[in-house]
Amino acid sequence: MTQSSSTQPLARPAIRVLTGITTTGTLHLGNYVGAVRPAILASQEVGVESFFFMADYHALIKCDDPERINRSRLEIAAIWLAAGLDTARVTFYRQSDIPEIPELTWLLTCVTSKGQMNRAHAYKGATDANAAIGEDLDAGITMGLYSYPILMAADILMFNAHRVPVGRDQVQHIEMARDVAQRFNHLFGKGREFFVLPEANVAADVALLPGLDGRKMSKSYDNSIPLFEGGAKGLKDAIAHIVTDSKLPGEAKQPEGQTLVTIYDAFATAAQRAQFRADLRAGLAWGEAKQQLFELIDAEIAPLRRRYEALMAQPELIEATLQAGAAKARAVAAPLLAELRQAVGLRNFSAPAAVAAPLKSAKLALPLFKQFREADGQFYFKLLDEQGQVLLQSAAFASGREAGEWVARLKGCGPDALAGVLAAAPLRLSAGVTAATVGAALSTFAAPA
Ligand code: TRP
Repeated sequence: MTQSSSTQPLARPAIRVLTGITTTGTLHLGNYVGAVRPAILASQEVGVESFFFMADYHALIKCDDPERINRSRLEIAAIWLAAGLDTARVTFYRQSDIPEIPELTWLLTCVTSKGQMNRAHAYKGATDANAAIGEDLDAGITMGLYSYPILMAADILMFNAHRVPVGRDQVQHIEMARDVAQRFNHLFGKGREFFVLPEANVAADVALLPGLDGRKMSKSYDNSIPLFEGGAKGLKDAIAHIVTDSKLPGEAKQPEGQTLVTIYDAFATAAQRAQFRADLRAGLAWGEAKQQLFELIDAEIAPLRRRYEALMAQPELIEATLQAGAAKARAVAAPLLAELRQAVGLRNFSAPAAVAAPLKSAKLALPLFKQFREADGQFYFKLLDEQGQVLLQSAAFASGREAGEWVARLKGCGPDALAGVLAAAPLRLSAGVTAATVGAALSTFAAPA
């Protein structure tokens, strides 16, 4: 593992948070609690730059009904906007409006190991289900489903997201995105990190809202509570169907583990949670508890529902908002993709200088030291020039600190002391590299006067 702060990308302005929602249906209350609400809250933090999008390419993997696909992306866009997304602050777009994403998907596909995709949950789940009924393992499984995690990695890496708020079921995909990012950086980066390694951000308390029957809330289990669909009445009717035990009014109830209570918690303050539990222990009837739950949720949702209905009546406004968002997103995606094309060798023949030249990112193209530990357990460092060529390589050190001290001495020695330090340091210069070349590279580390 390379352990060096100098290999991190140079100062990016803010923490980037990115999340997508697959547009195959409408969102239920679980999606709101688990994804939309925390993402919008996070987008309001200072120092956070957010990217939210409709994962409509992902939707095509799961659904071949064009009307449903299109309706869903409209509804979901309206939901995010109604829930308070500020598109002046946040970059809000449809995945399918960003052609750089499928292009990056291909570059990543070419460095992703098939074995890793074999282990992806969605694919494993599908093959397990086939095995259970004695079918051919891959029956009914498309390449879209199989490659799903790579498209998702491209969504994330395209924008160098640091944090990805997702449900627990998506954590594996983020880990796969990290792996493929690392592999790509390693293969093509020549000392430079094209991609930030993203981290999943699972809200600890209410990551997965249970459905009516206590299992994960999901359309496929038919146990979901609608977000806006059916209005207040739809919400109330669904809550009436939450499964409880059969304790009678007045009987003491055990709040822990009750689906109703878990859902209540997702909308309540700490004080409300404590009160609700106390009331149940004191015999609050389930019917009354459901009424309280309805009122609690509706107090938060009703204003959003009104905004949603107004937006749905003006789809052209939503379209314009998304087009503007796509332009913003592509302004980030296109320059990075251009660099990646260079890096993998897809270059313009009529610009020979550009072919040979280092990547055109003045800030990032600087010499750097890399410190690392080999399989032998020993510590090493090397100095790379701006093209990623190794200028010098150290001998083995027993401790990382010792290696770090030599790096610091090299960085700080100045032109006069250079020859002496180079002679004393346990290192060798690469073939053809002179002390003068090393001196020029080292001068870029000099502290500003
Ligand atoms: N796979 C995610 C889901 O089903 C949706 C998604 C697609 C996503 N691309 C993403 C989420 C990128 C986060 C980041 O929930």
